[in-house]
Amino acid sequence: MEFVDRMLTLRNGVEMPKIGLGTFRSSPEEINLAVTTALQMGIMHIDTASIYKNQEAIGQAIKDTKTPRSKVFVTSKISPYQQGRQKAYAACVDILEKLDLGYVDLVLVHWPGASKTPPDSELNSTLRAETWQVMEEFHRQGKFKSIGVSNYEERHIQELLNHASVPPAVNQFEVHPRRPCTALRKACSSAGIQVVAYASMGAGQLLESQKVITTAHAINRSPAQVLLRWGLLKGCAVIPKSVRPERISGFSEAALLDGWSAEEDEEVLKLDSLEDGHKYCWDPSDIR
Ligand SMILES: NC(=O)c1ccc[n+]([C@@H]2O[C@H](COP(=O)([O-])OP(=O)(O)OC[C@H]3O[C@@H](n4cnc5c(N)ncnc54)[C@H](OP(=O)(O)O)[C@@H]3O)[C@@H](O)[C@H]2O)c1
Repeated sequence: MEFVDRMLTLRNGVEMPKIGLGTFRSSPEEINLAVTTALQMGIMHIDTASIYKNQEAIGQAIKDTKTPRSKVFVTSKISPYQQGRQKAYAACVDILEKLDLGYVDLVLVHWPGASKTPPDSELNSTLRAETWQVMEEFHRQGKFKSIGVSNYEERHIQELLNHASVPPAVNQFEVHPRRPCTALRKACSSAGIQVVAYASMGAGQLLESQKVITTAHAINRSPAQVLLRWGLLKGCAVIPKSVRPERISGFSEAALLDGWSAEEDEEVLKLDSLEDGHKYCWDPSDIR
């Protein structure tokens, strides 16, 4: 399949690069090289979050490269510790200050639950609704160009759509061949919500799957590339994480979007057979 567009157009007309650099567990010391390499490779989308504690270093690295602001797409997230009106307001201000890039392209509610709140408590629902209202204010002021959610299941999305003035542009959640989340991806698509897949490489572990290695070998690609290509073929944006330049260069648009034959894509899609529901990251299924 030929991917003509490098960008996905979100429901509000904002364009988001299909490929971004993940930065979970990327330390401030590692970030400068990682972000600089990504931008040099044309990976213009950087994914961070309040809880990653690397936003200042990311903002600084972007500024150091002197890349025009409009060419970079930055996502951040409000943490489960920051849910509810007052805390979310402070969190939004903090994200803007730490990144220090004038505005943020996309801000997400990181998790449907609030910290120190039992998963089955109704308070989760109240606090995430308050958080959303605060994010809508920052969006109206132009400080957050788009707003969205992360780790939301269908019922969380439906609840949000029932009260939102600004519907979510994105839902970011764990998607890879072992856990394709077909129903949730379909529900997002029907609601006009773009899916961003995280842990596309199974937080690194799926790279060791024999099936993935064999597939990569058969088409002369790397295991990382076949897993990321699989996510792109499913219509997701992907945000692979590495702090190593030689690995980041394998995530470029040229490497993942250009020159893949229909036969290669057919091989990649055979990874569907790995589906067993396995999850590598946190599980929101019990959050009310
Ligand atoms: N919204 C959420 O709740 C949520 C949750 C999880 C992740 N995320 C986002 O999604 C991003 C990606 O997910 P992830 O970081 O969990 O997992 P991932 O991208 O599937 O895998 C990252 C891991 O794979 C390693 N790696 C990368 N390329 C490799 C290669 N070519 N060969 C061998 N190992 C390789 C990395 O180590 P090195 O750095 O040493 O290369 C890192 O340990 C995160 O960084 C974060 O931005 C969001």
